[in-house]
Amino acid sequence: MDTASGAMTQTQLPDMSSVMGTYGRLPVSLVRGSGTRVWDGDGREYLDFLAGIAVCGVGHCHPHVVDAISRQAATLMHVSNLFHNPLQPELAKRLCGWTDMERAFFANSGAEANECAIKIARKWGKARRGPECHQIVSFTGSFHGRTLATVTATAQPRYQAPFTPLPGGFVYVDVGDVEALDEAIGEETCAVILEPIQGESGVHVVPPEFLRLIRALCDEAEVLLIFDEVQSGMGRTGSFLASQRAGVQGDIVTLAKSVASGMPMGVCLSRGDAAETLVPGDHGSTFGGQPLACAAALATLDVIETESLMERAQAAGGAFIAGLEGLRATYPEIVAEARGVGLMAALEFAAPCARQVQLDLLRGGIIVNAVGDSILRFLPPLTVTEEECLQVVGAISDRLEEMAAANR
Ligand SMILES: Cc1ncc(COP(=O)(O)O)c(C=O)c1O
Repeated sequence: MDTASGAMTQTQLPDMSSVMGTYGRLPVSLVRGSGTRVWDGDGREYLDFLAGIAVCGVGHCHPHVVDAISRQAATLMHVSNLFHNPLQPELAKRLCGWTDMERAFFANSGAEANECAIKIARKWGKARRGPECHQIVSFTGSFHGRTLATVTATAQPRYQAPFTPLPGGFVYVDVGDVEALDEAIGEETCAVILEPIQGESGVHVVPPEFLRLIRALCDEAEVLLIFDEVQSGMGRTGSFLASQRAGVQGDIVTLAKSVASGMPMGVCLSRGDAAETLVPGDHGSTFGGQPLACAAALATLDVIETESLMERAQAAGGAFIAGLEGLRATYPEIVAEARGVGLMAALEFAAPCARQVQLDLLRGGIIVNAVGDSILRFLPPLTVTEEECLQVVGAISDRLEEMAAANR
């Protein structure tokens, strides 16, 4: 790092000229990880409060997961879905057990898991009420992926505008607008899709009473409820699914991110009629549910269980969010809101300073995520300690104190 200019100039940033410029990347090249820490090409250590955007839930390179992947890689890496693969049903049963679901479809990403959910909902709706029953209600501020169907479900124009025309069949409602939701659900509706906590738009927690009301409206209208738990699932909020905290069960639940600790995997779980909707020929994926990803996912579930990571997420997350609330109380002119559940948290600033604070923390060896200009998002591994949480609160506090002093 070139401290004189204050700029991050890691000596060995790779030449990216032959990689499509789809990402705004921070000026650090990460080469190694262990637990809550990662290291850059210069050997500099970072405390990782982003965990690959909620992917490394059990921490980087957890030995049990590494061992499972290594053993599986030496045994059988891939087999097509034209054959049985004993790891798939084992994983499906365990995930269904954690979520009260009945069947799983394995994909490779969150968007693909949601594509599967959308296809189930459309086929289910048409079989139930005829060809017009194909509409899906989603919520403003949501994020469901980047494929054409999931970017259409993502009710944020900035992700959609360059890619029109978009597929039809999606209508949007504001979170909390009961009247609009009631009006939007009709004979043509096959499903409602939502994240119980909207992650990409800045960790906006959907009130449990609204989740319960959506469930009631879906039951009344005989419409499927799809919970996108790609980011909020796998124990991050202190329960396996964030929707379980509200005591609400979806008909379809999608998972991805930390399911297989960084091996690409998305899962679409379903129950009841929805679980029986897709038949051979309807849907598929070459890589979906291949042995290597399944082995990683099974090992990930082992770690969540044996290391009581949900309890730990609840305890560490509680201390962390209390610390963030303390910052809001101390610096009310700078911090507008602290929010979150478990280890899915955010700090919203009154001014557009999030990107600068993110860079300042990076320089100090802490990785956090700026969502837009004014929100910092935190998604550390569930193995994070309360001490590490307080270290991050302290580092932000130091930065806020400097900002407050500059304003005095
Ligand atoms: C809630 C939610 N759904 C879907 C996705 C898309 O997942 P992927 O990037 O694996 O396609 C994301 C990614 O951030 C997400 O947060």
